[in-house]
Amino acid sequence: MNAFVIEAHALAKTFGATRALAGIDLAVQRGEAVAIMGASGSGKTTLLHVLAGITAPDAGSVTFHPSAGGPVEVTALGESARSRLRRERFGFVFQQGLLIPELTAVENVALASMINGVAKKDAIPHAASWLAALGLAGMEDRRIGELSGGQAQRVAIARAQATGAEIVFADEPTGALDSHTSAEVMDALLWSTTGQGRTLVVVTHDADVAARCTRTVAVRDGRVVSSAVDA
Ligand SMILES: Nc1ncnc2c1ncn2[C@@H]1O[C@H](COP(=O)(O)OP(=O)(O)OP(=O)(O)O)[C@@H](O)[C@H]1O
Ligand SMILES: [Mg+2]
Repeated sequence: MNAFVIEAHALAKTFGATRALAGIDLAVQRGEAVAIMGASGSGKTTLLHVLAGITAPDAGSVTFHPSAGGPVEVTALGESARSRLRRERFGFVFQQGLLIPELTAVENVALASMINGVAKKDAIPHAASWLAALGLAGMEDRRIGELSGGQAQRVAIARAQATGAEIVFADEPTGALDSHTSAEVMDALLWSTTGQGRTLVVVTHDADVAARCTRTVAVRDGRVVSSAVDA
């Protein structure tokens, strides 16, 4: 098994006249929690989206090394293959959105597995067990609007995990939360990823969040300016 789970080389991406990524190399080890930090507009979200196969770069490559099977060159895949890879192998936790307000907590989590072909009768108890593991027992049947921001983020974390994602990509998952709730959401995010041998790549403005990761990658003007292992 390759020690790296994601390897990116010479990534470049331009939007009109804006160079969002100006040549990025990044290798993420299996089981790492990598924080990506940098000023607004420095290219963090673009980098996350390119690593996760949401956005295709103009140049450069991203290779995913699954725990079983050979390497997958994400940047060589077409749209539908990338969408399948994201659905089956990756998990996503964003600042907001992504959860379906009309569905309950347990339905939101189960839906991700059901889209991947798991029967509802199996998906629901599996989803409920993830919710319970993340401290949300008793809240399975609440709609998203009936949860606090931190609880909703834990539903999103459960949903990212229920499909067995090897890597979770998070974009400012604590951006809308107070510091206490933010710490709880990070507990949940780290426990469910690196705590289970999975990998986390998290974009954050929050130094406390970054300090809890194993490594911080600093981005400026679409380039990596430093990559330091956290103490
Ligand atoms: N779809 C798009 N169309 C045009 N320009 C874009 C697009 N996405 C990003 N950009 C531009 O690319 C640059 C990098 O954007 P990106 O969203 O990656 O920044 P960021 O580091 O995530 O910023 P923030 O901290 O504010 O979220 C910015 O100048 C942004 O305006
Ligand atoms: Mg961003």
